[in-house]
Amino acid sequence: MKHTYKTTSKHLNTLLATCQVMSIKTHMYHRHVSWKEFMSLHQFFEQEYTSFFYRIDDVAERILAIDSKILMNVETLPQESLVPTASQLSTPTAILESYDKDLRALDTFLHTAVAEAWAEGDVVTQDFFIWILWDIEKKLWIVGAMQK
Ligand SMILES: [Fe+2]
Repeated sequence: MKHTYKTTSKHLNTLLATCQVMSIKTHMYHRHVSWKEFMSLHQFFEQEYTSFFYRIDDVAERILAIDSKILMNVETLPQESLVPTASQLSTPTAILESYDKDLRALDTFLHTAVAEAWAEGDVVTQDFFIWILWDIEKKLWIVGAMQK
């Protein structure tokens, strides 16, 4: 069955580029932490980059499942991503603040994407966005607790 879900397709492509950037940024955090918090942050960001890495494929496959096109390419990644490609690497506090800010941008975006997927009648992608939102809000809770 062919569908034309232009809005959800656009949001899925934005999400794809953002997950790609988040995967790279969290992988950099994993390698750059070197303070007394090294081991806990090193392990935490391994969990985070792994989670975003697997999410990339979930999102790409959802785009193809609705008969849409994957628009992402390396050259345009910084423009397509919701979060900046520049990474804060100075201190653990700055890294966690930056990560928290990026997760909040994703959280806000996904709330809009859920509502617009519903409006377009693409309830399966709506459910997919909610599933990702559940994970992002869990990450926000964890990162918030780590900053106290
Ligand atoms: Fe590693």
